[in-house]
Amino acid sequence: MVVTEYELRPQGFSRFPIDWEEVFGRKAKLIVEIGFGNGEFLAELARRFPEKNFVGFEVSITSFVKAQRKFKQLNLKNVRLVKVDGRFGLRELFPDESVEKVYVNFPCPWRKARHQERRITSGDFVETLAAVLERGGTLEFATDEDWYAREVKDMFEESPYFVVEDFVEGLQRDIETRYERKWKERGKTNFLIVVRKVHGAHVKRLLEGENEMAHVSFSGKVTWEKLKDLEGKVFREGDKVFVVKKVYRDGDFLFRVISTDGNFQQQYYLNLSQHGDKWVLKIDEGSDPYRTPAMKWSLRKIMEYLTTDGLPGEVLQDVVDV
Ligand SMILES: C[S@@+](CC[C@H](N)C(=O)[O-])C[C@H]1O[C@@H](n2cnc3c(N)ncnc32)[C@H](O)[C@@H]1O
Repeated sequence: MVVTEYELRPQGFSRFPIDWEEVFGRKAKLIVEIGFGNGEFLAELARRFPEKNFVGFEVSITSFVKAQRKFKQLNLKNVRLVKVDGRFGLRELFPDESVEKVYVNFPCPWRKARHQERRITSGDFVETLAAVLERGGTLEFATDEDWYAREVKDMFEESPYFVVEDFVEGLQRDIETRYERKWKERGKTNFLIVVRKVHGAHVKRLLEGENEMAHVSFSGKVTWEKLKDLEGKVFREGDKVFVVKKVYRDGDFLFRVISTDGNFQQQYYLNLSQHGDKWVLKIDEGSDPYRTPAMKWSLRKIMEYLTTDGLPGEVLQDVVDV
């Protein structure tokens, strides 16, 4: 895994939200772009405003790699990129009242009703913005979809935390994005919505506080049949869900797990190894998940499964810091 000077991997940080002053090595206004695509908008912003710090979120690895080339060519020092769902990143990585401006440019609209949970504006996005934006801070949201533009405008008009400052049909800004150009060339109308925060909100964060490096250990008999039996099993409790997709045997045992906390999903590997009469279940070295409640619960629950059901075993330690 190549980590460049621009990529930030907050999974290993000891505390959440992040201390951005430490990350950038200076105190400056913070600007965020969610879904930066090929990065040209973010790069141009960062070039024009060297006195500000910029954070970009993107989930596409290809975009992530391409964008970094642009930042490198321009030798930008004031940009950091995080490869994670921007809804999660904005909520978990920024303290309240810390961000001056958020840009969301041409997000995937997810037109079908059954996909609406995938929209960037879904879940607690409004509350998150109302928490992390400075008072008077703004969101600029651009889209080529008429219905989506109106839906977002209504959403913010109904919110007690924001006023809608602008609703533009036929977007013209002095920095263009790739998708903005693409839709213009096809004769489509682009929309821009600008909202300003007027009241703060509290948002529930999953990672707030110390970041535990979780592992569990236990004693007892573990059989391959019992391990294989875990494959495809779904565990659910409140907002936490995880499924053991596959179990591998390669000296140690490996579990491929997908967990979700609300609308945040991640995949990782757990490693089970024997040390004398003790088993240790921990995050595999090749994996780097966020230690969310569902992730930590998957460790505990798998241990519970392996130490019950006719197989004698005693829990030696619960989730601990190492
Ligand atoms: C239609 S493209 C627009 C790219 C760019 N903003 C532009 O205007 O040219 C949407 C981008 O958002 C990214 N994306 C989708 N969902 C995301 C999420 N939850 N968090 C961060 N990025 C996301 C996609 O990978 C894609 O690069």
